[in-house]
Amino acid sequence: MPRKIIIDTDPGVDDTMAIYFALRSPELEVIGLTTIFGNVTTELATTNALRLLEIAGRSDIPVAKGADDPIAVPFGGPVPFVHGDDGQGNVNLPPPTTKAVDQTAAAFIVDQIMSQPGQVTLVPVGPLTNIALALRLEPRIAQHVHEVVIMGGNALGPGNATPSSEANIHNDPEAADVVFGAPWNVTMVGLDVTHKVFMSDAHLAEYGRINNPLGQHIARIVPFYRDFFHARSKINGIWVHDSSAIAYVIDPTLFKTEAWPVRVDAGEGMSRGKTWPAIGDTDRRNLEPWQNRPRVNVCVEVQGDKIVEMELSRIRG
Ligand code: BDR
Ligand code: CA
Repeated sequence: MPRKIIIDTDPGVDDTMAIYFALRSPELEVIGLTTIFGNVTTELATTNALRLLEIAGRSDIPVAKGADDPIAVPFGGPVPFVHGDDGQGNVNLPPPTTKAVDQTAAAFIVDQIMSQPGQVTLVPVGPLTNIALALRLEPRIAQHVHEVVIMGGNALGPGNATPSSEANIHNDPEAADVVFGAPWNVTMVGLDVTHKVFMSDAHLAEYGRINNPLGQHIARIVPFYRDFFHARSKINGIWVHDSSAIAYVIDPTLFKTEAWPVRVDAGEGMSRGKTWPAIGDTDRRNLEPWQNRPRVNVCVEVQGDKIVEMELSRIRG
């Protein structure tokens, strides 16, 4: 039986690759896309989610629009220099012919989990606002979800949105702290591992040789994103963020994890959005902020080459 997943997403070039990777993986059944601000506004994320499903011939999958702003402050704004003004590498797709469902992302998530207890896995690859709102709406989803696999955070290394914080967590630290503190099984696929999953230019060029709409769309949108990485980090390729979370759901043995309680700095200082793990025996130390918090599975090592090969082979079909 394929695992039922909901991808909470802000598409975004790498979100697009992750969605297509999931759609082409027989281990997974994508039962919905929920949308969130981050790479683009929530409005545009919703439009893009609908467009992406149309390109893939999968408009049967529902899209539910999420919150427009973080739970505590207004949205800081999109990142057109990373993903393009349209979030799709400035390829100017036509408007979608389909519509989002008449339900908020949070309500959709609650309904899906509560009507199929133990069966639904959440895969948030954007800011965690919708997930925190779903918990607020129905706290029992924590007992009934199968698991939560998040792309976000940086436990042991530097950030990417700021020197201290990763973009998804930085966009709503208050929500992230709620999600890492809920009594459910959470895995954090953060920069600690995604910066070890590298897709080279040669590898990216392979998508252009795939003769199906998914490979062709990826090949159109990825050059803009790749050029950002080259300008910012001097690498000839991309680091694989969102697809790494999909890979974890498909095959967790590709990762090594540590079980640490994680707090998120939601203060106003320079480490706002930093995910702080409590490493070691938290009981013997006076570390009040981490006490009575559940342990999060934090990914610390990864077999990156296997992930990039798996993603390409799935899109190729
Ligand atoms: C995350 O931020 C976004 O730009 C990407 O889509 C990914 O989810 C990486 O920090
Ligand atoms: Ca994303």
